Amino acid sequence: MEEDDLADGWFPESVAADYDSPGGANAPEVVVPMADVLESLADGGPVLEFAVGTGRVAAPLAARGVAVSGIELSRAMAARIAGKPGGDKVRVTIGDMTTTRVAGQFSLVYLVFNTIGNVTTQDGQVDVFCNAAAHLRRDGLFLIEVGVPDLRHLPPGQDTVPFTVAPGREGGGHLGFDQYDTVTQQFTSNHVTVSADGKGRFRRIPFRYAWPAEMDLMARIAGLSLRYRWAGWDRSAFTAESTAHVSVWQKR
Ligand SMILES: C[S@@+](CC[C@H](N)C(=O)[O-])C[C@H]1O[C@@H](n2cnc3c(N)ncnc32)[C@H](O)[C@@H]1O
Repeated sequence: MEEDDLADGWFPESVAADYDSPGGANAPEVVVPMADVLESLADGGPVLEFAVGTGRVAAPLAARGVAVSGIELSRAMAARIAGKPGGDKVRVTIGDMTTTRVAGQFSLVYLVFNTIGNVTTQDGQVDVFCNAAAHLRRDGLFLIEVGVPDLRHLPPGQDTVPFTVAPGREGGGHLGFDQYDTVTQQFTSNHVTVSADGKGRFRRIPFRYAWPAEMDLMARIAGLSLRYRWAGWDRSAFTAESTAHVSVWQKR
């Protein structure tokens, strides 16, 4: 077994190896509607994915003929992109999306799957917005997909919310709990995965949560203003009951 590389952050080889398992976030019914929206917002221009990962979204988008670039921190994740249909066309730069610049001016920069929360300081998240804006051509768009903080499920005195208790095949399973610090806006996502042979793995990932309104302020600091806010990739209306949002800001 390869040793995990600390430079790969929270997504080392041991995580990358399972990331593309079929179903879940990799299912066509999840990825195709995302690619539909991104292709339409790109309007024929080049796009840049921050935190491109294994190319779950970037590769199918490139396979449609969209010019896709990506920035990714983890070499272990990025190493999987080229092997996918369309993946060999994705221009990948290893780097940190808070600071790394790539050549070009883009119609669309996008950051999906809650990954803005992987940047765990407010300053760092503002840097992500500013870096996105710096890559956009005039009138270009920055899109974020992220969950709404689940604080409504926290009764007084409790700091932890279960988000999945899913039995797996032949006795295995996945238990997930988010633990919130409402003073610092930090939360930790805790995952216990048990395989069919009874072996368990406990994984914790730190996040910073932010409300949509705080993101609008970050966008404003970066010279962007809100163009769309949807509850999901079906472009349905964002409401008080929405558990996630797909927000799109435009370079002024
Ligand atoms: C949940 S995965 C999402 C990957 C891909 N966007 C997708 O939708 O499948 C989060 C990814 O963000 C990357 N990441 C986290 N912080 C980053 C940063 N500051 N700069 C670049 N990539 C980062 C991780 O290495 C990981 O590959």
